[in-house]
Amino acid sequence: MNLDLPPLRRWLIERAVVVLSLAVDPVLPAEWEARCAPLNPAERERAQAFYFESDRHAYVAAHALLRHSLSAVIPGEPADWRFMAGPFGKPRLIDPPPGLDLRFNLSHCRSRVAVALALRAEVGVDVEALDRTARLDPGIADACFAPDEAATLRAMGDEVLRREQFLRLWTLKEACIKATGRGLSQPLNAFSIDLDRLSVRSPQLAMIHWRLAQWQVGEHLVAVAVDWPYLTPVCFIHRLLVNRH
Ligand SMILES: CC(C)(COP(=O)(O)OP(=O)(O)OC[C@H]1O[C@@H](n2cnc3c(N)ncnc32)[C@H](O)[C@@H]1OP(=O)(O)O)[C@@H](O)C(=O)NCCC(=O)NCCS
Repeated sequence: MNLDLPPLRRWLIERAVVVLSLAVDPVLPAEWEARCAPLNPAERERAQAFYFESDRHAYVAAHALLRHSLSAVIPGEPADWRFMAGPFGKPRLIDPPPGLDLRFNLSHCRSRVAVALALRAEVGVDVEALDRTARLDPGIADACFAPDEAATLRAMGDEVLRREQFLRLWTLKEACIKATGRGLSQPLNAFSIDLDRLSVRSPQLAMIHWRLAQWQVGEHLVAVAVDWPYLTPVCFIHRLLVNRH
């Protein structure tokens, strides 16, 4: 697997929160070993356990992208990184290098993956296919979102716009709960997102100063949240260079 990685370390030092995103390519059987090369045995086993091939390919792409990205910032081979999970499952590095407080997060849907990196700031990322709006019932917002978010969505006459706004909120809220590391154990209705200002309205959670960003990448939405306001969000779309003969 070959990636045209940008100068990640420099960007991070210059106070960017960097999101790297990659389209998920189907993996030909002959390519499987090479694509899995950066993964550890447990990750390979998890990849094999997916029922749908597309989930398997996305998982491999996300974890390979993360490992290559880490190696672009700190000295070490992609296959050598070891991770541990926080209390709610958020992975972090075992034995992080001294002096460079690197935090990261990853997200995968079937057709696109994303990895976010930041220095000294907690970061969360989410990627969803736009066509997920067709499958998700925005009525979920009444049950899960903050009352002001649900009311705004309900008031939208235009169904297409309502579904689009729903997915924008959904991805940003997921990025937030992934930045805190509490995941879905943190109620989605405990804070609300202001889509116009791209900020969190949440007096009780100290998330009001967080930096949020969102990009439409082809047929996907990518959202990032970082708990430090002075970082510039950058989204880098990768090309995966696969040598196919
Ligand atoms: C984190 C969570 C929101 C992910 O949602 P998702 O949209 O289905 O999945 P995404 O593709 O965006 O993200 C998955 C990745 O997030 C990371 N992740 C896992 N738990 C996380 C957490 N608590 N916070 C941040 N990131 C987390 C992992 O890298 C995971 O990838 P992997 O499963 O391939 O290793 C959801 O799975 C969750 O809440 N998990 C925690 C469940 C929990 O509370 N467990 C209690 C354990 S005691």
